[in-house]
Amino acid sequence: MLQKITELLQEVSSVTLKNTGDLELFRLKFLSKKGLLSDLFEDFKNVPPSSKKEIGQKLNLLKQNAQEKYNSLKTELSNLEDITSYTDLTRPSYLYSLGSRHPISIVRNELIDIFTRIGFTVSEGPEIEDDDHVFTKLNFAPEHPARDMQDTFYISRLSSEDSSPRDILLRTHTSSVQVRVMQNQKPPIRTISPGRVFRNEAISARAHCIFHQVEGLYIDENVSFADLRQTLLFFAREMFGKETEIRLRPSYFPFTEPSAEMDVSCKICGGKGCNVCKHTGWLEVLGCGMVHPNVLEACSIDSRKYTGFAFGMGIERVAMLKYGVNDLRLYFENDLRFLDQFKSAF
Ligand code: PHE
Repeated sequence: MLQKITELLQEVSSVTLKNTGDLELFRLKFLSKKGLLSDLFEDFKNVPPSSKKEIGQKLNLLKQNAQEKYNSLKTELSNLEDITSYTDLTRPSYLYSLGSRHPISIVRNELIDIFTRIGFTVSEGPEIEDDDHVFTKLNFAPEHPARDMQDTFYISRLSSEDSSPRDILLRTHTSSVQVRVMQNQKPPIRTISPGRVFRNEAISARAHCIFHQVEGLYIDENVSFADLRQTLLFFAREMFGKETEIRLRPSYFPFTEPSAEMDVSCKICGGKGCNVCKHTGWLEVLGCGMVHPNVLEACSIDSRKYTGFAFGMGIERVAMLKYGVNDLRLYFENDLRFLDQFKSAF
């Protein structure tokens, strides 16, 4: 019996198998109820007591080795089968469908990137605001038309007649964030505030009641209109290309004096005039100006010591000009045929 066990130990240690069928034969031969091991354990009952210890140890070793061999061959073969049955290395691969960023996110990220490179920080603030931060501190007269229900979404109004600093509303521009920054920080301040804004407009190709802005603010000693112009030229060339020119036209905002509107040269016709620029050679991009002293004072900043500039633009508008999008509504419809076109942009 000892001889037989020794032979079997050798067989177990040297066995190699090709497939799971062979493995099953191995199991039947050694480990099953009718297999060799059970026969040997049966025979073991008749072994004389003097040999029981030696034979018993060998038999247990055989049992252990056979079981271990079975387990290891099983994992080996199943790995092999996984590879052989599922992997055809010549087969064309699956097409991975890549997601894409929304054009508004792409342009917002690019704007943040451009301005943070020249030292601007990013500030955020609440979308639900009060009259004080959206209008009063920004030098809007009490009867200013922007405060009208037709332009502003009110959440609660103390009386429909007058405007109170405690009226709660959806912010109509992110200048409100800049008021909060001015109230909480000392100059020098150099920050941009990207975010969603809300205006009570009928939805059309050119207007929407929700859109996105990035507004910028720079306050320090001796900040001049030339600084504003140079910052905006840098932005325009980074965003629309090195050849881009800008022009500033006088405008009016309650919170800046002087105020201007900035146009960029039309990229499509190179300034010669086309349908997109309505044959002017220029495209309107943003509003800007020198921060009104009343705004600085309302936010406890000494207007004799400090000056500053501010600017604000619609992200949808910038994206429209950059990508040639002709209908604002496309940004909000989540139509994959539109969104898929921005796959290669980040
Ligand atoms: N807040 C203005 C708007 O929403 C934009 C602007 C910002 C204009 C800063 C001038 C200076 O249209």
